[in-house]
Formats: sequence, structure tokens, C-alpha cells
Amino acid sequence: MGNDRNKPGNPVFSASTGYTDLVNLGRAPHQHHGFINIPVYHGSTVLFPTAKAFIEYKQEYTYTRAGTPTSRNFEKSMAGLEGGYGTILCPSGLNAITTSLLAFLKSGDHLLMVDSVYQATRRFCEMFLCNLDIETTYYDPLIGGDIGRLVKPNTKVIFTESPGSQTMEVQDLPAICKIAHQHEIVVITDNTWATSVYYDVLKLGVDISVQAVTKYIGGHADLMMGVATAGGERHFATLKSAHKLQGLYVGGDDINLAARGLRTLRLRLERHMENGIAIAEWLRTRSEIEEVLHPALAGNPGHDIWKRDFDGAGSLFSVRLKPYSDDAVFAMLDHLECFGIGESWGSFESLVLPFNPSTYRTVNVWPDEGYSLRFYIGLENPEDLIADLKAGFEVLNSYEA
Ligand SMILES: Cc1ncc(COP(=O)(O)O)c(C=O)c1O
Repeated sequence: MGNDRNKPGNPVFSASTGYTDLVNLGRAPHQHHGFINIPVYHGSTVLFPTAKAFIEYKQEYTYTRAGTPTSRNFEKSMAGLEGGYGTILCPSGLNAITTSLLAFLKSGDHLLMVDSVYQATRRFCEMFLCNLDIETTYYDPLIGGDIGRLVKPNTKVIFTESPGSQTMEVQDLPAICKIAHQHEIVVITDNTWATSVYYDVLKLGVDISVQAVTKYIGGHADLMMGVATAGGERHFATLKSAHKLQGLYVGGDDINLAARGLRTLRLRLERHMENGIAIAEWLRTRSEIEEVLHPALAGNPGHDIWKRDFDGAGSLFSVRLKPYSDDAVFAMLDHLECFGIGESWGSFESLVLPFNPSTYRTVNVWPDEGYSLRFYIGLENPEDLIADLKAGFEVLNSYEA
């Protein structure tokens, strides 16, 4: 990208997702006395030099909520990384999703929502959008171009998430976007699993790419943040307006952590992917497992679309267990030492969760009554994770005996 680090120069935001570009993205040390990182601005009031300047309100920074040099820099960095027109910063991944939905939906509209969506997004439709007289229809994540038969005259948004939360179905985004754009429907994608490093959703036709920065970009389980990036100027104006009118703001310290995460994002993702596939393949050999749901594994439903559309894989995946009692599953999980039990993912530490989609899915019937497991694979040595899981399976099997 030709950013000569020893000479004054403007920051470069048009990044590919290569190592060099991630290291340099948004930085211009000689605009900051040679300091390598982007300064953190804290604030509320921003002063104007004169009363006239205040009335004209034309200076670049006017009030902290409207942006600081720190926030603008990260917005531009994320827009560059996504290959988009502009990015908004939100206080959580969920808020980036809800702001995107609110931006493009109004009372009387219809939303097509993927049945495999993150459960908090689902709750927002069922407990908030419904009160605004916005109707949600859930659709099969594998519907592809057949989504056209669900489109109504008032359908304004198709929401996608690929692969789906917990059940990991891969969606045919180009086919969905083609239909959507024939009807001027906005396509929003939750792109948290692969990030824009491995999944260039704007290039595939998506209008708004959302990521929970909380996960891989932050990477260290020490911040909450979300971003939504619009591919084009018109959609960005709508998104930005919803953001501004709601008064959303992210503090400089959290943005600083997120910007730091970008420097090592690709490196971490590569190790996560490697570890995740290694553990998923090992789990495939175990008699306790009915099915491993990981898009990068050959033979998995969605593997062909994953190969076509993605450049890599996240390390979050699920397994369907053979029938075991709840007590046996809980005892196995409690026995694990390398895997924390808790929400979220994307940091250095491996995690596991029991889940049961039959309690909330409405379109696809889930085949199992008992718990499945969602694994998040961190940066530990895979041999240690496998040894831990082996000991866990012994507990699982002893319970059944
Ligand atoms: C796929 C996905 N999207 C969005 C979110 C929400 O992100 P946050 O926790 O930052 O609100 C999560 C959180 O787990 C998630 O898994």
C-alpha cells in the first residue's frame, strides 16, 4: 500500500485484508508526533472559536457524540476493510443489528428473517419490531433463490446470517441478493462468524454488513462493540441517520482496543481456523457424536457454498450428540478445564455451551430432543483441548453406564 512510515503522510483506509494492510490501516504516525498508534480522544464539549462559528456549525468536530478523530479513524478503517462506503460504530454487536433494522424498516413493513439467526436478534423482532407493526416472517436458511416466493409488496429487508448461529447453515447470499434487488429490498448480513477478512459479503451483493466487534476484532473478551457498514452512499445516509437520531456513541478507549485488534486480526483468525478445524475433525471420529456442524468440513451441508463464497472459517461450530441425559451432558461440561462455559466468543479462550434449537426454531424442525454443544475454539494448543475433551467424554460415558 506504499505508506512510507518514516515520512509524513495521510492514513490509508482502502485496505485489502492482507497482513501489511491490516498493520498499516488508518495509521499516520507523523501526524501524531511519530507515535505509532492513533491517539484516543476523550470528550463531551467541543469548543468553537467564535459565536458565529458555532451558529454556522461547520467545523469538522462539533460534539463528541457526533464523532472524534478516534471514532472517525476507526469508522474509515472498518469501511476500508469491508470495501464499503461508510461505517457506523455501535455500543454492541446486537445494537449494530437493531440499528440497521430500524434504519430500513418502518411501521407497516415486512421483514424476512433467517430462522437460524442469533437468538437476541430473534427476540428483537418478536418483542420490539412487532410493537412497531413490523411483521417478521422466518425463512429456511437454505432457501437460496426460492426466497422470492416469500416476498410481499411491503417486504423491505431480508436479514441473513451465514453460517447460522448454533446450527451453522451456510446461506446462498448471491442468490438471495439477486432476488432482493429485483424488488428493491435491502439485504443485511450478520458477518460476525467469518468477519470481512474471510467473507466479503458486500462484494457478494449484500447492502449492509454487520459485525460484532466484541468477537474476533476485539479478540480479547475485554470490550463490547458493533459495526454496520453500508456498501453504497444512499444506504449509508439512511444508516447514519438512524445512528445519529438514536444518539449512539462508543467511547474512545473501546475504539482503541478494537483498532488494536485489527493489527493481529488475520493472524489470530488463521490460528483460530486451524485449531477449529483440527478439533472439529477429531470430534468427527468420536462415537459420542452424531454430527459435526462445521462449514469447512467436507461433506457438511453448506460446504460447497462455503468453498465458493468464503476465504476461510471462524472457529465457532456445533456438534449434535448421540442421545445422552441432560445430567450426563452437564457433568461432561463441568469436568472440562480448557473450555469456559459462557456467552460470547472470539477471544483467546475456548468455550462450550449446551443448546437446544427445538425450543426456538420455527421453520426447520431440529432432529434432537436433547442438548447439542456449541464449541468456540481459542488459541490454546489443540492437543491440550483434545486431551481435555477426551477426559470429558469419559465422564459422559461413565454417566450412561
Ligand atoms: C453471530 C452474533 N451476532 C451478534 C452478536 C451480538 O454481539 P454483542 O454480544 O456484541 O451484542 C453475537 C453475540 O454472541 C453473535 O454471536
